[in-house]
Formats: sequence, C-alpha cells, structure tokens
Amino acid sequence: MSDAFPVWDPRQYNRFEAQRDRAALDLLLRLPEDFAPAEVWDLGCGTGQHAALLKRRHPAAHVHGLDASATMLDQARALSVEVDWVIGDIAAWSPARPADLLFANASLQWLPGHEALFRRLAENLAPRGVLAVQMPQSWDTQHHRLMRKTVAEGPWAYLFETATARVQVMTAEAYYDVLSPLCDDIDIWATTYLHVLSGDDAVLEWMKGTALRPYLTVLADDPPMREAFLKALGERLSAAFPRRTDGATLLPFPRLFLVAQRR
Ligand SMILES: C[S@@+](CC[C@H](N)C(=O)[O-])C[C@H]1O[C@@H](n2cnc3c(N)ncnc32)[C@H](O)[C@@H]1O
Repeated sequence: MSDAFPVWDPRQYNRFEAQRDRAALDLLLRLPEDFAPAEVWDLGCGTGQHAALLKRRHPAAHVHGLDASATMLDQARALSVEVDWVIGDIAAWSPARPADLLFANASLQWLPGHEALFRRLAENLAPRGVLAVQMPQSWDTQHHRLMRKTVAEGPWAYLFETATARVQVMTAEAYYDVLSPLCDDIDIWATTYLHVLSGDDAVLEWMKGTALRPYLTVLADDPPMREAFLKALGERLSAAFPRRTDGATLLPFPRLFLVAQRR
C-alpha cells in the first residue's frame, strides 16, 4: 500500500480491546433481526475480530475483510481462514457483487469526503442491504485537542505537514441527508462511553494505538524526536486525566452510530 497510510501496530491497538470492542458489539446489536446476508464486507477490518464474528453468525455468507494495513491483516488471517481478507483502500473499493451488509467500525473517520463516500457505500448495497457504521466523534474531545495543540507547537510541527490527518466527522443530520435519498429505516445515535483504562499513561497508550499512528509513522526514523513528542503530549494528558483513587484513568469517548437499509 502507499506511504500515505499510517503504519498500524496490532499489539498496541489491541491493548484496550475490551473497550474498543464494546462499540462494535453495540452496533452489531442494531442489525435487523432475521437478517440473512449473502455478501458481507467489513471495511477497515483491522485485526479481523468483527469479520470473523460475522462469519460465525452467518456461516453461509461470503464475508470479506478489507484493510489498508498489511500488519493488521496478518493478525486477521491468523484468526479465520473462512473470511476473504483483502488488502486495499476503502476509497478505491467497489465490490464485485452488491453487498447485503457493509460494516465499518472505527475506520471511516480516516477517510475524507464523507458526503461522496457515504453515497457510494449506499449505492453499493443490494436492495434491503444494510450499512452499519460507528465512528469516534473525537474532534472536540479534550485528548484530541491536546494532541492537535502538541502536534502544532513543538519542533516536530513541520514534519507533520505530510501526516494523514483524521477528518472531522459530519453531523448526524448531514449523514441522514446523504443517505435518505437511497435508504430507509435510518437509525442514527450517539453515545459517550466512559472508558475505564488501567496502567501508566493510559490515555497516551490508548492514543498510541489509533489517533497517533500518523505522527508515530512520520517519526519512526527519529527516536529522540518521537520520545520528545510523546513526553510533551503525555505530560499534558496526565494532567488532564488524573488517575482515580483506585488507579484507573477515565476517558470519556463520544461515538456516532448509523444503521441504514437500502430501498
Ligand atoms: C481503529 S482501526 C479499527 C479496526 C476494526 N474495524 C476494529 O473495530 O477493531 C482502523 C482501521 O482502519 C484501517 N483503515 C484506515 N483507513 C483505511 C482506508 N482508507 N482503507 C482501508 N482501511 C483503512 C486501518 O488500517 C485500521 O486497521
């Protein structure tokens, strides 16, 4: 894949697997009952847990897991031989057959142009096919504000000009407006989870698995600069997210969910 993609680290990402999984499972609960999809895609499948789960739930379906990261897909391949694991860019993806389920958990926030993207995803659904998406609404959270401030203020700032920036997701109403010409039964909701994290520098460690990937990719060949950047951000995060008396760190994390069915 092209250098434009950040390098992912499956071990770091899955350090907080229980918390990260929670939203995906909440999304899966909203799929229609008596749903029997034949063509299923998990877009941005990462280490593959949800594609593998969908294959177990719908054994007769063709389940495909698409991701741009070879390292994430290596883990996914070890999880299931029954899923068709595909390396590729969601921006360039189009299925050979219309999809009955397009599932995208915590991946589409990495892509720009959501109006066109969501229209295209809906257009690739079979009649009565379902689009199910969860995206962090992290732009305005304290930990993302501190990340952007640290990115912009240090001696590393000029290096980050080429880093893949996370996009600000649209409003719930804007997703409704894009999908309503093509879909009905549109269900959109938002939830803020209070993630209870354990360990030292827990919010920094959480971010090292996801939001910081583009910056850590840029700094991969400059360990002193990488350490200085992480130290500066870590100090701000520790002050903003003090440990509780039991040692836990609490991370409020808003997420937007969307389930829509193609007419
Ligand atoms: C936060 S992880 C989520 C992984 C998985 N869906 C989960 O819920 O555990 C985001 C994933 O999206 C993938 N990704 C980001 N942008 C992508 C793109 N344009 N095309 C394909 N995959 C992409 C990354 O490689 C990464 O594995």
